[in-house]
Amino acid sequence: MPNDMKNQIEITAAQRDLFFKTLDQMAKKVAEDEPTLGVEFPHVTAPDGSWIRLPASLSAGYTGSSWSHGNWLCGFWVGLLLASYRHTNDQKYLVWARERMRLVAQRAEDPNTHDIGFIFDSSAIPGFDITGDRWYGDIALVAADKLRARLVTTRSGAYLASWGPLNDARGRCSSAIDTMANLSLLYWAANYSGDGSYRLAAEAHADMTAKAFIRADDSTYHAVEYDVTTGERKRGYTFQGASDESAWSRGQGWAIYGYVNSARETGKRKYLDLAERLATYYINRLDGRQVPPWDFDATGTDANIKDTAAAAVVSSALLELGRLHPDPAAAAKWTGHGLAMLEALCRDEFASEPSHRGLLKNSCYSKPHNEGVHGATMFGDFFFTEALCRVVMPGKFRPVTSNPMVIA
Ligand code: GLY
Repeated sequence: MPNDMKNQIEITAAQRDLFFKTLDQMAKKVAEDEPTLGVEFPHVTAPDGSWIRLPASLSAGYTGSSWSHGNWLCGFWVGLLLASYRHTNDQKYLVWARERMRLVAQRAEDPNTHDIGFIFDSSAIPGFDITGDRWYGDIALVAADKLRARLVTTRSGAYLASWGPLNDARGRCSSAIDTMANLSLLYWAANYSGDGSYRLAAEAHADMTAKAFIRADDSTYHAVEYDVTTGERKRGYTFQGASDESAWSRGQGWAIYGYVNSARETGKRKYLDLAERLATYYINRLDGRQVPPWDFDATGTDANIKDTAAAAVVSSALLELGRLHPDPAAAAKWTGHGLAMLEALCRDEFASEPSHRGLLKNSCYSKPHNEGVHGATMFGDFFFTEALCRVVMPGKFRPVTSNPMVIA
């Protein structure tokens, strides 16, 4: 089958209408909010639906023993501006994206966080893909250097340390499942620069994560503390999940997303197989729902708290898994799941009331910290938009390249 046909996802007229109108509303909200932001960026919504905003400059770090992720969401707003440009062809979004990118660019030198991958994969990389302007690409490459520098090499493999400056022992020995979704920056940098060391770092991390994070039932730990010499897992634990041994749904989503991207970028079947195993676990735990609870093992009334951001991440990942999968029946299955999740998000979770400035209600940033629960999160809105773009305009927001070893 020619690639451009395989990249076009078959949908009904009703789905096309729903997805198209949702992108219309996304672009409208973004245009209304952009002039109100000043130099700050939307983060999560407050109970009244307004955006809580943070400056792009806020880095991650420890205050005493307490850890803060800082502003890792600023790039996603640039991504929404770029997706709005692609959807509408209105140049004003491109002008805004460039202005915002200048505010975000300072974070390309940030040595404190793996989230540098999220920040630049959602902003400078689509900026480069869409405009071809190496100004965007060169910013992303500086950021990729910082992410590659987080590689900690042990006797049994290498991993990217997730949190904090590397001279802080707490950060150096720890890695998080979210890092899997940050690997896109390294894969992209290898292609952009012709320097394969970025890809080697990403693959080493993906392999070590597969050994240390995936439990016997195919659920994942949120975080792992390694012995920095031997590379053995000292313990699995959580920061945003219900408990150390629970299945935090967004963490499972980041893992699925990361292994799908690793399959696309390396052509290695083992990553596709891992993504399928993790996705099968996730679908089984959904038990017929389209939006997961924030943690599959949450109990009592907490079990009713949803995470639409997890649903958005997984929808986007499964649409890509469906596009890549060489077996037509498996491809149709994963595409079908991705579409069903996306449809449910548009129909049941989209914030159409003007007072709610985010796109998706019922995202859950961090239940243990009581932050961003029930409202929109900037990353949930971004991955929701990415999934919509994959369906409505394949190749226009994210490239539809794929390694021929996966597309058999
Ligand atoms: N730090 C990524 C997340 O909150 O899912």
